[in-house]
Amino acid sequence: MTRLLVWDIPIRFFHWSLVALVGLSFYTMKTEGAPFVFPIEVHARAGYLLSGLLLFRWLWGLLGSPHARFARFLRSPGSMIAYGRRLVSARPPVFAGHNPLGGAMVVVMLLSLTFQAVSGLFLTDDIFFTAPLNGLAGGDTVKTLASLHSLNANLLVALIAGHLLALVLHRLKGERLVGAMVTGRKTLEGPPEDEPSQGLRRRAASLYLALGLVVLCALPVIWLWSA
Ligand code: HEM
Ligand code: HEM
Repeated sequence: MTRLLVWDIPIRFFHWSLVALVGLSFYTMKTEGAPFVFPIEVHARAGYLLSGLLLFRWLWGLLGSPHARFARFLRSPGSMIAYGRRLVSARPPVFAGHNPLGGAMVVVMLLSLTFQAVSGLFLTDDIFFTAPLNGLAGGDTVKTLASLHSLNANLLVALIAGHLLALVLHRLKGERLVGAMVTGRKTLEGPPEDEPSQGLRRRAASLYLALGLVVLCALPVIWLWSA
């Protein structure tokens, strides 16, 4: 049994901020939004922060630490099927980072979240609020985007439910994934099938890169916030 640092600070910060902001987005649109006086304003601001966060995750998936990279965890459909088959066996295969099915699910969630945030930037509630990019699209396009924003919100609910169900299934198989997303460290029962990163060694360099990207991703958020 080995214990490895697999999720760096940026991934963990990304994940738990995402959970809080997506929760706030749904809360402000699917309930009366108390105690907020203008829930739509809070909804939009959560959306601006989410846009910056997602931009960061796409860049971190290209430049970030080993297990954060798409190239590391995006596998062929064949590997996903093979993993699915072995998952139902008595001894499921061990992965340090995202497993092949989890990796595909992560990218689908990121795409759906990104569509949700970007489409929101063109919407209006026809009463109090008009989003910053609304003027760039014609009335029909805005209507289509509003329907898609609503449809994709339902898809997101299904994806999040699937995500949580998968975590429960892994837990039943003895894999404690949630603790790893908190501490960054995963306990592996045997040698992993993916190449484990060497303890995310270049941590200082990686943190400077992350800080640079955070500043870069904050710029559009500041613009949207003040537009
Ligand atoms: C990932 C981020 C987002 C999530 C999860 C989200 C979620 C939702 C949900 C669940 C609804 C209600 C849909 C319905 O029941 O038909 C909604 C509506 C809406 N959202 Fe978002 N949204 C996000 C981002 C944004 C952004 C960035 C903006 C604007 C800047 C925005 C503006 C709106 C507007 C104007 C509505 C319609 C409100 C109305 O018709 O009164 N959303 N959103
Ligand atoms: C709004 C709800 C949620 C969304 C949108 C969401 C989204 C995501 C995304 C995008 C990832 C990939 C992380 C990355 O590589 O960047 C992820 C991974 C993960 N999430 Fe969530 N998540 C949600 C709720 C939760 C909750 C409530 C928990 C814990 C109870 C959780 C636990 C995890 C864990 C453990 C992983 C890593 C999975 C693995 O080891 O492959 N998530 N989630």
